[in-house]
Amino acid sequence: MTFDRTVKIAPSILAADFANFGAECAAIEKQGADWVHVDVMDGHFVPNISFGPATCAAIRPHIKGVMDVHLMIAPVDPYIDAFAQAGADVITAHVEAGPHIHRTLQAIRAAGVKAGVALNPGTPAAAVEHLLDIADLVCVMTVNPGFGGQKFIDMTDKIRTLRAMIGDRPVHIEIDGGVDVNTAPGVTQAGADVLVAGSAVFRGGSVSNPEPYGENIRAIRAAASGTYV
Ligand code: DX5
Ligand code: ZN
Repeated sequence: MTFDRTVKIAPSILAADFANFGAECAAIEKQGADWVHVDVMDGHFVPNISFGPATCAAIRPHIKGVMDVHLMIAPVDPYIDAFAQAGADVITAHVEAGPHIHRTLQAIRAAGVKAGVALNPGTPAAAVEHLLDIADLVCVMTVNPGFGGQKFIDMTDKIRTLRAMIGDRPVHIEIDGGVDVNTAPGVTQAGADVLVAGSAVFRGGSVSNPEPYGENIRAIRAAASGTYV
């Protein structure tokens, strides 16, 4: 994985057909997805349960590019090796998931994986201030985590603050929740480069009719770069 700040669209397979993950991952990549975002939920840190490391390992061979694993679980540390073994390129843990996020990020990097740290809407940017030299990505949640298809919560000020705090460090800013053609422009202008989108990518398409995925991805990318009309 080389670092750059060009806009990357990361469809969340939480909005895909759960009976068809392999084909869905291949379809979104073929239709222009940059990263594949994988939402892991434990029914404890968040109120919903999705899937775990075995599912990640099963879909890995169907993803050519970056597998971006978002852990909405607590605790995190006992499961890092399992997700690394499953082939994650990025593992993101929540700052709210436990008292030792610094140790967690160190452990993710020690497992040979890029380390991400996520912030719930209620958590200030300052929570990651002392983590920026051991993190590869900061994920700004623009919904309260747990479900796809929720209404976007404006975090523009937090994104701007983080962008200034990051400076020249090679740290991505990822936005997760409610990203669509209407919300993408503001977050990229504020400094985000990775846009997670679930419902806005998978809407209208399927494995047997994947063209809408491509149209949706191109529309979000165009909106993010200010060329969407
Ligand atoms: C929320 C997840 C998100 C979400 C995105 O808990 O982390 O990745 O599924 O879905 P949309 O784009 O539908 O808000
Ligand atoms: Zn996510």
